[in-house]
Amino acid sequence: MSIRVILLGFFLTSVSADGITDLVLSCALVDEGGGHGGMGGGSMFSRTPVTLVLRDVAVGPDESLELLTPFVAPSVPDPDLIIFEAQASSPEIPNAEALLHADCNDQEVMCEISLYSSQELRDSSDSAYFMVSINVEGVESSATLILQTLAVEKDQATLVQNRLDLPLSSSGTLLTKVIFLVFSDTKSVSAPVKAEIVLSCGFKQQDAPLAQEVSVEWRLQHRGKGQKVLDMKTQLDDVEGNTEIHAVRRDSSIDVAQVANEGNVSLTLDKLKVSDEGTYICTVSLGPFHCQQTVQLQIQQPPQVSLSKDKLVVKSAQTLSCHSNKYYPLDSQMEWFFLSPSDTEPQPFAERASLSSHRQHFDGTYSLSSHITVPPTISPGTKITCRVTHAALDSPLHVHVMVESPEPESYWWIFGFLFITILFFYQVMR
Ligand SMILES: *[C@@H]1O[C@H](CO)[C@@H](O)[C@H](O)[C@H]1NC(C)=O
Repeated sequence: MSIRVILLGFFLTSVSADGITDLVLSCALVDEGGGHGGMGGGSMFSRTPVTLVLRDVAVGPDESLELLTPFVAPSVPDPDLIIFEAQASSPEIPNAEALLHADCNDQEVMCEISLYSSQELRDSSDSAYFMVSINVEGVESSATLILQTLAVEKDQATLVQNRLDLPLSSSGTLLTKVIFLVFSDTKSVSAPVKAEIVLSCGFKQQDAPLAQEVSVEWRLQHRGKGQKVLDMKTQLDDVEGNTEIHAVRRDSSIDVAQVANEGNVSLTLDKLKVSDEGTYICTVSLGPFHCQQTVQLQIQQPPQVSLSKDKLVVKSAQTLSCHSNKYYPLDSQMEWFFLSPSDTEPQPFAERASLSSHRQHFDGTYSLSSHITVPPTISPGTKITCRVTHAALDSPLHVHVMVESPEPESYWWIFGFLFITILFFYQVMR
């Protein structure tokens, strides 16, 4: 009996150890060290290297634990070092596994920490707050976290971090917990015009909610200009009775039920236009905290390609045009190839094609035409191809036309006419 109990206990610890690990990130503490009023009114920022240890990050069942080492604090606490230690189990940090592998995959992790402060916070709380933004190169997710320092039981041995003037834990770390975070699982998306797209953004807060009132604002920033797309305000415990949504852009929406149930504040844009392109900033405000994420939207509309002729009969030199219509963005390439019956490989057209200027349509898309003069010396059976390359196409588009010999059709009616004439004379002479 007692053996069973021990076995069961062992089993449970190994399972729980299997699912969690510590994540150690090298970050920069950014602060306005030099104060305001430097050259041109800009402010000076100083960057200090710090360590962020996220404890109890949940990992998938197929993570091999041998590769994951728990964080070991320095044996002698050092008040000059800055080590943030945060519980990351509740709320869970989305896509933390991507961070886990960034080092091995040689991806650069951008992690910046800054003090988060306001009059309201100073009046209402003894804790200090920090904002952390985490971004991994080549990974589609990013997050901004708010850390709150935890109370440290002070005794004579308690060290105080020199720079931040905050008490350190016995292992020399600044103990904090994640109380609020805003994240996105897509940094950039692309879609064709008229389509519908979802720009992802979500938030999580600690189990004892910071606040019930949440407000969300989506803005679009493009070529130095900013505009509001949509804002909403709701009461998480009463969305039905207490929600205001203001959609500035037509056909933009946010799912209120998803906001309340999952903290999913994703923006849906329908009937996309070229002018929707740009950087979208999602700001979630919860109590005294405001956090942001950005999502890039690119419009990618593939061209419609056609030739001016669907049949080409050689008589004299003639113009053949290739039309590439209604695409976006502007960059596109048009090339011509000839494949004569005696060749095995298509040859680039020897002469220079003339290009029309780009035409821009009302909807912001572009059209372009390329013209060539087909020489009368071209051999029948030659295949003429126009190839169009564009970012919205997975592979180049090809349209082609076959060169035909002058059609024998035109002689048939002479034969027919002759035949009828002979038949007529035959009848008359009989
Ligand atoms: C929000 O929900 C949409 C589906 O409705 C999903 O595509 C998106 O990934 C979700 N985003 C977040 C941040 O949860």
